[in-house]
Amino acid sequence: MSETTTIVIFGASGDLTQRKLVPALFDLYLKKRLPQNSRIIGISRSQLSDDEFRARMEAGVREFSKYTYTDTQWSTFAEIISYFAGNLTDLADMQALDAALRAMEGEAVANRMYHLSIAPKLYEAAVANLGAANMVDETNGWRRVVIEKPFGHDLQSAQQLNVAIHEVLAESQVYRIDHYLGKETVQNIMIFRFANSFFEPVWNRNYIDHVQITAAETVDVGHRAGFYDGVGVVRDMIQNHMMQLLAMVAVEPPASFDADALRNEKVKVLKAIRPILPHEVAKHTARGQYRSYRDAPGVEPRSNTATFAAFRFYVDNWRWQGVPFYLRSGKAMASKFTSITIVFKEPPHVMFELPKGAKIESNSLTICIQPDEGIHFSFQAKVPDTAADMRAVDMTFHYADSFGRTAIPEAYERLLLDVLKGDASLFTRGDAIELSWKLIDPILQGWESDAAPLLAFYESNSWGPSTADLLIAENNHRWANACENHVEL
Ligand code: BG6
Repeated sequence: MSETTTIVIFGASGDLTQRKLVPALFDLYLKKRLPQNSRIIGISRSQLSDDEFRARMEAGVREFSKYTYTDTQWSTFAEIISYFAGNLTDLADMQALDAALRAMEGEAVANRMYHLSIAPKLYEAAVANLGAANMVDETNGWRRVVIEKPFGHDLQSAQQLNVAIHEVLAESQVYRIDHYLGKETVQNIMIFRFANSFFEPVWNRNYIDHVQITAAETVDVGHRAGFYDGVGVVRDMIQNHMMQLLAMVAVEPPASFDADALRNEKVKVLKAIRPILPHEVAKHTARGQYRSYRDAPGVEPRSNTATFAAFRFYVDNWRWQGVPFYLRSGKAMASKFTSITIVFKEPPHVMFELPKGAKIESNSLTICIQPDEGIHFSFQAKVPDTAADMRAVDMTFHYADSFGRTAIPEAYERLLLDVLKGDASLFTRGDAIELSWKLIDPILQGWESDAAPLLAFYESNSWGPSTADLLIAENNHRWANACENHVEL
């Protein structure tokens, strides 16, 4: 029997659909990776004709698709796109949508992916209505629901959302997006660690001194200020993206590469992270706000929202006991890059004569997640024509050099394809999200209490507040900006 696949995008008039989802689907189409008989239906409340919707999508594709394409390629793709005006909180509208979908699907086995690109406060209602309209029953093809971030704003709301979801859907039908997991460089952490025999033997507390994970952005909150002010950097970047990066660095090798094997191991890491309790926040965290933040339209004049944060976590297990994991993220920073730096221990004995007070700079390995994707290993070399002077030099791998400048697809391309294939490895499971909130909640509570560290103001285009430097200096460490000097592609 023939088979159809319909990609139903709720919130189709929003930014994400135009900038990320449809361009990624178009790129998959160009690569002939969409399943046969695929269709894309956009749903939102705006009254738009199919052609008006297609025109909006074309504008997005023109700006955001990674590849060059012909008019014919666009127009054949546009034929599979249509639009349905409706309100997902209105059961009658959902039933009407279901009827429209059935009419298109005919007698075929009909798979459906529902992508919720909507305001997070509508997730529960959307899922409940998908259930009430009998749209998630899998007797005649699969039904998968993709949920964007933020998933909850604290542990309790995330738990409540998981309960509401599980009333309607099996966990295997749920795909919670963390787009960082769709990045090639993040997926490569598994290959780098477990497909090479060189690194894993030193990947532990015996050789690693500390780990730094940075996500620095030069942009400020701009037109997103209204949304951002109630959220802040911890909920926006750390609870999800950065905790996932930490888990990828610290995870034990899974026995196989299937979705649950890796996700089970990541959950073990999250469980092993020592919580920073509310009374400890001044010791283990720093927070900041760029100086002009409160002037942005939509921001409370006395807002305490952090636009920068730095944390020191420890992972209490055999592999990582005593190794600090520093996390740092901020808006309006001096440079844009996301990196993971593994700093190794100093050599146990130094036989070379060093200038008084000097130390050998430790080896470090930096995974540049973006924008200049690659890996750098910094080690000591003898400066030529000296007795034994030494200097740190770099051994580097750049994706652009090895695989070409356009080799790296957009994260959404990979993620949407995985949903279509039914591979959930790169999606966050409900238990992992809850564990992450469990670590974040006490920090945010501490920040509301008398124990809070100073909310330090920092200049735009800087490295954030000096309190972040003091946090890391406490252990005689300093922030590494190893991906900073490389060319932005
Ligand atoms: C999003 C955040 O999840 O990630 C944004 O909401 C942030 O505030 C963005 O700018 C960063 O993503 P990327 O892929 O540019 O690092």
